[in-house]
Amino acid sequence: MNVLLLGSGGREHALAWKISQSNKLKKLFIAPGNAGTSTIGKNINIDPCNFASVKQIALEKNINLVVVGPENPLVNGIQDFFIEDAELKNIPIIGPGKIGAQLEGSKEFAKKFMLRHNIPTAKYLSVSSKSIDDGLSFLQQLSPPYVLKADGLAAGKGVLILNTLSEANQALNKMLNGQFGEASKRVVIEEFLSGIEVSFFAITDGNSYKILPEAKDYKRIGENETGLNTGGMGAISPVAFANKEFKDKVEKQIIIPTIKGLKKDKIYYKGFLFFGLMNVNGNPFVIEYNVRLGDPETEAITPRIKSDILDLFEGVANNTLENKNLQISDETVSTIMLVSGGYPQSYEKGKEIKNIDSVKDSIVFHAGTKTSNNKIVTNGGRVLAISSYGNNMNSALSKSYKNAEKILFDGKYYRKDIGFDL
Ligand code: AMP
Ligand code: GLY
Repeated sequence: MNVLLLGSGGREHALAWKISQSNKLKKLFIAPGNAGTSTIGKNINIDPCNFASVKQIALEKNINLVVVGPENPLVNGIQDFFIEDAELKNIPIIGPGKIGAQLEGSKEFAKKFMLRHNIPTAKYLSVSSKSIDDGLSFLQQLSPPYVLKADGLAAGKGVLILNTLSEANQALNKMLNGQFGEASKRVVIEEFLSGIEVSFFAITDGNSYKILPEAKDYKRIGENETGLNTGGMGAISPVAFANKEFKDKVEKQIIIPTIKGLKKDKIYYKGFLFFGLMNVNGNPFVIEYNVRLGDPETEAITPRIKSDILDLFEGVANNTLENKNLQISDETVSTIMLVSGGYPQSYEKGKEIKNIDSVKDSIVFHAGTKTSNNKIVTNGGRVLAISSYGNNMNSALSKSYKNAEKILFDGKYYRKDIGFDL
């Protein structure tokens, strides 16, 4: 099969790495990809949100399957675009349609969905500038800290957590006045949930589902989870506190009601589901849905999937996922992100990266990299993800850290405390 994978981050390199191990693969194309994906498939320099270009490539390269990495093409309706096009409609897409993608594209949509299907989540009120007074009185009923979320996609920056009521009131005003543009025309005000976060993943063909390995992500730039939010600075899979009892609750109270709810609402959904959960005293609550895999979680979970991923994707495409066998390794995988100095604020690009070839006992997944004059150079905030297997978390981490030290580029930074809370 010829596969087109959309995206350019560490998640996509990890997916490309896994797809390339399948004996069902004929040719792999990644659009636009990065320096890492170019070593295992053919990069094509197009924007995944330019559907006309995606169409041209899909036809020109005889693509049999499209795997969508990031959320934007999904929220913009790439799956609907394919289904509605006579020449593309028989090419399956791993990823939901525009309506299903609203689980990630609109916090209010996701909240209403959870309420309708009895899925545990924080209490909330959704407000616009017309109903700001309702919002202010809802805030008064809550106890601090206060959680405000821009309804729409805001590149991971649309959630604010405020310590005092007056800060929350001010922030609500600012958001509704366009702080995040269109995305914060509506704001979801939420009760704060206190606990420890964990990311769960499933893949579904719309009827049956398989639960993928879970992971813990470390979002802040600074050690001990301090400082600014980032896309993610590292990940560990599996997560020790996600024991059998907790996983059973996640499946019964969250995953099954989500898949059944989508069916009941007649939302056609084939693809990944990412459940951002809070473990509150042993009980899972949904903090957010995403309609894709996580980054850097993918770099920690794909190495633990033993089964052929294209076989699973075929199951999704042909509605035979139920008959597929998903095998997961018991080993731990740790992922450490190397980032550019200054990230998540401004940083420089184009720094030469040295010593990647010297890494023997870790897998180096490229994120923000490109090839320039036969050299690999930095091309983003998150540069490389270093994933290692181990019999336990510490043995996995020590390999990742040894290699994180070996790889060199100007301004390199990484957190040295990934896994500290497990
Ligand atoms: P989100 O973009 O919805 O994942 O939110 C970003 C981050 O804000 C999450 O990873 C949590 O750390 C935090 N967060 C979001 N909602 C809540 C909540 N209701 N209670 C506590 N923390 C939250
Ligand atoms: N690592 C969190 C995310 O991908 O949204």
